[in-house]
Amino acid sequence: MIQTKSVIGLLHTTKIDPSWSFSDKTRKDTAYITHGYHRYPAKFIPQIVSRLAEKYTRVGDFIVDPFGGCGTTLVESKVMGRPSIAVDINPVAVLITKAKITAIDPVKIEKEFINFQKRLETYNDKTREK
Ligand SMILES: C[S@@+](CC[C@H](N)C(=O)[O-])C[C@H]1O[C@@H](n2cnc3c(N)ncnc32)[C@H](O)[C@@H]1O
Repeated sequence: MIQTKSVIGLLHTTKIDPSWSFSDKTRKDTAYITHGYHRYPAKFIPQIVSRLAEKYTRVGDFIVDPFGGCGTTLVESKVMGRPSIAVDINPVAVLITKAKITAIDPVKIEKEFINFQKRLETYNDKTREK
């Protein structure tokens, strides 16, 4: 059993590394790829995840986040070539995560975009007729 006293002692002797505060990072710096799609309470700064993954894992290692939230860990794991899984009790968090990590076929996007443009043109034509 870990003694409370020894844990407190450990905290006293552990040197604080201010670089883990990422105080130089702006909101824009933390919103790259899909990280900026939305807000979520107590999100990780993605740089924390990538630094931890860099330090403690290698490409191919499996990463698990049992409180996955909106998927910061999964996005960073994917980028860094680590397979990963997350769990979250909140279905909205799961939905956001899926939206952030699901790859979309570029051909499908192109098709949808063309369809959207056509519908927009038709809509504008109809509006002008009135
Ligand atoms: C601080 S948030 C995690 C945020 C995450 N690190 C991110 O960057 O998006 C904590 C998450 O734990 C989830 N949670 C709380 N209790 C849980 C439980 N018993 N099982 C699974 N998830 C839980 C909450 O729904 C919440 O999304």
